[in-house]
Amino acid sequence: MTVTIVGSQLGDEGKGRVVDLYGASADVVARYQGGDNAGHTVVEGGNEYKLSLVPSGVVRGKVGVLGNGCVVNPDTLFDEIDTLRERGLDPDVRLARRAHVILPYHRVLDGIEEDVKSDSDRKVGTTGRGIGPTYEDKAGRRGIRVGDLLDSELLREKLEYVVPQKRALAEKVYGVSMNEAIEDSSDGLETGEAFDVDALHEQYERYGERLKEENMTVEAGEFLSSRLDAGDGVIFEGAQGTLIDIDHGNYPYVTSSNPTAGGAATGTGLSPGVIGDGDIIGIVKAYLTRVGSGPLPTELGGVVGDTPDYDEQGAGKNEDLAEYIREEGGEYGTVTGRPRRVAWLDMPMLRHAARASGFTGLAVNHIDVLAGLDEVKVGYSYDVDGEEIFTIPATTERWGRCEPNFRSFDGWPEVNWSEVADEGYDAIPENARTYLEYISDELDAPIYAVGIGPSREDTVVLEHPFEN
Ligand code: GDP
Ligand code: IMO
Ligand code: MG
Repeated sequence: MTVTIVGSQLGDEGKGRVVDLYGASADVVARYQGGDNAGHTVVEGGNEYKLSLVPSGVVRGKVGVLGNGCVVNPDTLFDEIDTLRERGLDPDVRLARRAHVILPYHRVLDGIEEDVKSDSDRKVGTTGRGIGPTYEDKAGRRGIRVGDLLDSELLREKLEYVVPQKRALAEKVYGVSMNEAIEDSSDGLETGEAFDVDALHEQYERYGERLKEENMTVEAGEFLSSRLDAGDGVIFEGAQGTLIDIDHGNYPYVTSSNPTAGGAATGTGLSPGVIGDGDIIGIVKAYLTRVGSGPLPTELGGVVGDTPDYDEQGAGKNEDLAEYIREEGGEYGTVTGRPRRVAWLDMPMLRHAARASGFTGLAVNHIDVLAGLDEVKVGYSYDVDGEEIFTIPATTERWGRCEPNFRSFDGWPEVNWSEVADEGYDAIPENARTYLEYISDELDAPIYAVGIGPSREDTVVLEHPFEN
């Protein structure tokens, strides 16, 4: 039995809290893509956990797996594990030996390329975690994989091949001096140390030792299929969201992996049949946020401003309302602390997401954040180049010209959400239910859960996929 959790928008839809919700009945939670660019929040009782890499299921004591589709920064991994242990948890995390490793030079190169791009307003607004450069090396067949950390000689050989190339790229192509301090490096590294074979070998060999000592590496496909054969419930925890998928998102303002449901197969080593046999739950924020650059046709207001071409987009702009929703929803990036851009729900985006992943159910979060507004809007179609369209165009330039046609819904009042959580779906204010049912009808997928506040208890659950 499997459940796949997919972000249907631009990330930060509340995937972590839905993994936590259904994680109660699961045994294993596996991430299938991305790395420590993610920030998944789980709020349990008075405890808040913000997880970048470790799967959210560890908060409930479930086995966490980082699949082969992930990129792993061992520094973040061990930091997170140690911090969770200090907080009294006992995380059991396994890493795919086929997963790729983020090295310090990947983070440096991520920063350099963003700097260069910002000169021509092409900055993606990445999280600076080295995600893109690591996936580049994976595709370029020069990456270092988790399995390589377990073999000191092999690791040295691979570093000796790749590090001089990276150093030349930094120095000769980008003109960066090796004596510069790495910007935003927590450990005060000089750039040169990120490109030094001996220093890297020593550090990453140590990480390999710890992985061996704690018996943390697995052949992910084999591990997961044997757990499924044994009758375990497995959740596939997507990171990021459909519109920042490298293939189905708005390229180039994307991350470098596949958050859509297909990624759950390629990123774990299980077949598409296994993924498709289970539920695929689209996580929807009741409005829309974005932390990086790129178009956002239903935008109310934003702070990024790195892509001025798109700043003019959005007939429905209302900075005060954006600010209000940002404060009510605490819309600041989990990883970087950046204020998130805020927009109305975008149906062309959600139709595209539902098609790409085949949602069998939806979890809609943040219904409480919109409470108290007189009116809630939804962009239901776009006008572009003289025609009306109902889904996302393939090019960012065309998406950037789209003007939304809005549909207006009557707002719903602020209520006692704890009582709603106790009483169930019918206690949700009627106008909010109308809104939820509109989303469900449009996407032809039933509502499985409704988020009415950040914590575990603040959820109205209509379907338990593991209990059907
Ligand atoms: P993820 O990356 O998809 O897991 O989402 P994040 O954790 O980055 O962002 C979601 C934020 O909204 C977190 O701070 C959550 O605690 C919070 N959150 C999730 N669901 C709800 C909800 O239904 N209502 C409110 N008010 N906050 C929510
Ligand atoms: P979760 O899992 C929101 C965005 C970045 C940037 C683009 C590329 O918490 O939903 P990257 O560092 O991946 O190369 O950045 O993707 N981005 C996210 N936005 N939520 C995330 O993760 C994100 N991970 C990456 O802001 O626009
Ligand atoms: Mg997040």
